[in-house]
Parts: sequence; structure tokens; C-alpha cells
Amino acid sequence: MEFPSQLHAAIEEQLSGLPVKKLAVLTEKISGRYRSGEPSREKVCMDSYQDALAYAVFRMPATYAAIYFSIEQAMERLPDLEIKTLLDAGAGPGTAMWAASPLWPALDHITLIERDQNMIELGRKLCARSGMFSKEQVNWIKADIRDGWEIKPYDAVIAAYVLNELPQESRAAFVERLWESTAQLLIIIEPGTPAGFLNIKQVREQLLDQGASIVAPCPHEKPCPIQDNDWCHFSRRVARSGLHRQVKGAELSYEDEKFSFLCLSRTKGMDVDGRVIRHPQIRKGHIYLNLCTPDGLVNTVVRRRDKEMFRKARELKWGSIINGNFVRNK
Ligand SMILES: C[S@@+](CC[C@H](N)C(=O)[O-])C[C@H]1O[C@@H](n2cnc3c(N)ncnc32)[C@H](O)[C@@H]1O
Repeated sequence: MEFPSQLHAAIEEQLSGLPVKKLAVLTEKISGRYRSGEPSREKVCMDSYQDALAYAVFRMPATYAAIYFSIEQAMERLPDLEIKTLLDAGAGPGTAMWAASPLWPALDHITLIERDQNMIELGRKLCARSGMFSKEQVNWIKADIRDGWEIKPYDAVIAAYVLNELPQESRAAFVERLWESTAQLLIIIEPGTPAGFLNIKQVREQLLDQGASIVAPCPHEKPCPIQDNDWCHFSRRVARSGLHRQVKGAELSYEDEKFSFLCLSRTKGMDVDGRVIRHPQIRKGHIYLNLCTPDGLVNTVVRRRDKEMFRKARELKWGSIINGNFVRNK
């Protein structure tokens, strides 16, 4: 997954003059806050514009990849969806706007709610530098999402990596408001941890009760079959820039971002037979697949002798939807 070069250039421009060592210290401070478990309001507020920049260097490529993937999954089941307006709640530096722009070409108005002034300032500068949207098309609102916002219908609503930053007691009302603001599609993304998945599972139950349709990742609307000792999550490989590697003191040229997500819509998506929920294990003569299907979780083996099925299975990736009865080959 490549981070847009334009965005990368805009971030580097903002960094001018900031020594890599200083950025590394800031990055370590912020990642320490995230590593320390459920981040509280105080823990994750950016203390300075430079903190927001450190977030853009060390987290934004990964959250961008997760948002991009989630939108793609929703579009696979709702190919005719046309998104013109977007609400991003807990927007940070506007990551969702960047991911949405190439996937939703009709997008012409974005509202971003964020409480942190440094994030807003950075988001504004990155957007202005890109010329992606005009000032009139982008409306930043500095506010606490727990206090609510004016309910208007937006074609799409995104809340990425923010639910876990709210106190438990505020989450249901926040989700309720997100859904009330959704004309077509709501996307919620959380870290790919047991706690992140639990948040997603709770949203799933809450909004199914309100008549929402699930378009991704679940291929059905029955109770989630994932057991309590497991969690449903997905992964995107994100290329690290030279700066990213320097800042993180990392050797690898990539990192794997793990996340859990849910896409809910006002209309039903195209039917699918299942989704691949782990990396397919490709062996010499067979491929192991872990699937979530409308009939529950299925572990299946596709053998080389089933030529057509084997060819199709080789193309599947963690997160792919499946059409066709792979389960028959058990
Ligand atoms: C982990 S960042 C995610 C940013 C962005 N959505 C992304 O995916 O890159 C969480 C953002 O939510 C914001 N946030 C957390 N609690 C908030 C609240 N109560 N009201 C408004 N914004 C909040 C934080 O300031 C931060 O910018």
C-alpha cells in the first residue's frame, strides 16, 4: 500500500527544519501513549503542532491504509454508491479525506470534527498544499464529539481509530449520532486488537438492532460467530518512507497495520458467500482457507486437483470476499 506522494510531500514540507532526532523523540512519546492501552482523553491530546506532525509521520500512513481498504470493501458490495458528502468524526489531520478522495470521485463536501487545534491546523495545511479540495469544500469543526453535533445527512460517515479514545459510557451515544448522520454508508475502524474488535462487535449489535445492513466485513447479519478468545481483524502492508524508518529506528521497509472495521449501510449490499478472515496458507498441493460464511466459521482445504477452484483460491487474500462454494471441497 503506497501512501500518496502528494501527501508525503506535504508532510515533509511541514517538517522542514525539525531535526529527525527531535521527531524521533516526539514519535516515541506518542507511540508510548498508544501502546499504554486504552488511551484516555488526556493521554492522546497533541501537546504541540510538532506532536501532530509526529502523528502524521508515524501513524497517518497506516490509518490511511486501513481507511482505504475499508472503503474498498464497502464499495465491492455497494458498487453503485455515489458519495458526495462526507463527515469524518475524530478526524485527526484529515486522513479519511485523503483516502476517500481517489475512491469517491464525486466527493465535493467534507466536514471534519476534531477537538485538537494542532491536528486541525496540520490538516488544513496538508489539504491546502495538495489543492485536492477548495477551502469552501472542507469544513473543520473544532469540537468534542461527546457533546454531539448538528445532525444533517451525510452520504458517508467515517470514525477511524476514535471510538477507543472515548470513555466507555460515551460510546453508544456517539455511535447513535454517527448513524443518525448517515444517509448511505457508515464506516467505523478500530485497532486490530481484542479490545478494538470488542468495540466493533458492540457497534455491530447496536446498529443491527436499529435496522442497519452490514456490507463489510461480515458476509451476513447473524450473530457474530467469532469466539470470545479470538478477534476478527485485517491487515494492510504499509511501505515505510526513509524518514519513517529513521524516525522509528526501523530496518524493515514496511509495517503491517492490523485493524478491525465495520461498514454499515442504509441499503443491502450484494450477496456474497463469505470472507477470508486469515492469511490463506498456500502449500504445494493445497490451500487452507479460514472463512466467515453465512453458515458460520469454516476452515476448508482447496486441493490442486480441483483445478478451477484452486486457481481461484490462489488469488484470495486475507480480507477477500468469496463467491462460489469453496466450502464444498472440505
Ligand atoms: C488516533 S487519532 C485518529 C485520527 C484519524 N481519524 C485517523 O484515522 O488518522 C484520534 C483522533 O480523534 C480525536 N479525538 C479523540 N477524542 C475526541 C473527542 N472527544 N472529540 C473530538 N475529537 C476527538 C483525537 O484528537 C485524534 O485526533
